[in-house]
Amino acid sequence: QSGERDKLIEAHELTSKLYHYLLMNTSHGQPALEYLRSRGVSDKQIDQFMIGYAPPEWDTLVRFLDKREFKAEAMEKGGLLIAKQDGSGYIDRFRDRIMFPIRNSEGKAIALAGRILGEGQPKYLNSPETMLFNKSRSLYNFHQSRAAMRKTRRAVLFEGYMDVIKAWTAGVTNGIATMGTSLTENHAMILQRNVDEVLICYDGDSAGQAAVFKTIPLLEKSGLRVLVAMLPKGMDPDEFIERKGAEAFIRETIERPVSVTKFKLIYAKKNHILLEEEGQKNYMLEAVAIIAELDSSTEREFYLKELSREFDISLESLKQDCFHHRQQHQ
Ligand code: CTP
Ligand code: MN
Ligand code: MN
Ligand code: MN
Ligand code: MN
Repeated sequence: QSGERDKLIEAHELTSKLYHYLLMNTSHGQPALEYLRSRGVSDKQIDQFMIGYAPPEWDTLVRFLDKREFKAEAMEKGGLLIAKQDGSGYIDRFRDRIMFPIRNSEGKAIALAGRILGEGQPKYLNSPETMLFNKSRSLYNFHQSRAAMRKTRRAVLFEGYMDVIKAWTAGVTNGIATMGTSLTENHAMILQRNVDEVLICYDGDSAGQAAVFKTIPLLEKSGLRVLVAMLPKGMDPDEFIERKGAEAFIRETIERPVSVTKFKLIYAKKNHILLEEEGQKNYMLEAVAIIAELDSSTEREFYLKELSREFDISLESLKQDCFHHRQQHQ
């Protein structure tokens, strides 16, 4: 059992190194290298995250692993190879993709994610669940960010691999990401053991914002403080850094997060047409309901005052509505 695991880790370590070598030192890797550079990923980052390239052939890894006496059957179970339909052998799972090794908390490679060069589907291909890799427990870059997380007592949670990598260049060394799945209770538990606070920095598109909304209660349930970084409409952290630079990213998003309540208010606002009377009233009622959830009366007053100023409604009326809400939902 543990022998099988060690063997599979060894295979992932060697495979990651092979792909990294092919990217950096062969002409086959050249287009992939140019693609990475065009996206602003430096050689230093390529090295640090051991980014690689899986060539388009069907049997590069099959032959590589066979030569090192790994059993194809075990490698198929481990997610590196795929069994052919007709049972006549195996092929490589990852072909013609930029490869990102996924590591466990000890820094050992346990899975891989592969991005297509340019457009195409699926954009990312990840290892399946295996004896080593459980998506609901794995966080990309956890092993490299743990020291900074413990020091700052904070983690910055991104959506994607590229966000983590690009943000690292901007100085965000406590960044992690889930693996194409939403954050689970297990992820929250792992974070809670290392930090007090999580700054959610998801994509500025509607999918990203909906994911923020879903992630907040999971983190809060684990006792974590939550803050939300707001990105310009439709932009993700990696694009922000590409277009506006690392400094602007830190200054305008990481250092200017909003509270969970503020995020919920902004999120609710999008569903109402504030130019119409009905829209205004409905938003205000929803806003009061959000504010009513706060335990601290100081905080409630803080947001109610903001709302009162924004819509020129007396604080008294808002407070009364808020009070009723709290009574109803006790
Ligand atoms: N993802 C995935 N499979 C896909 C698409 C996305 O596993 N087919 C996961 C990846 O972990 C990806 C994350 O979801 O990093 C966020 O998706 P998206 O925002 O679409 O990708 P980006 O990270 O922005 O990727 P890129 O910048 O390379 O386009
Ligand atoms: Mn290298
Ligand atoms: Mn996204
Ligand atoms: Mn994205
Ligand atoms: Mn992106």
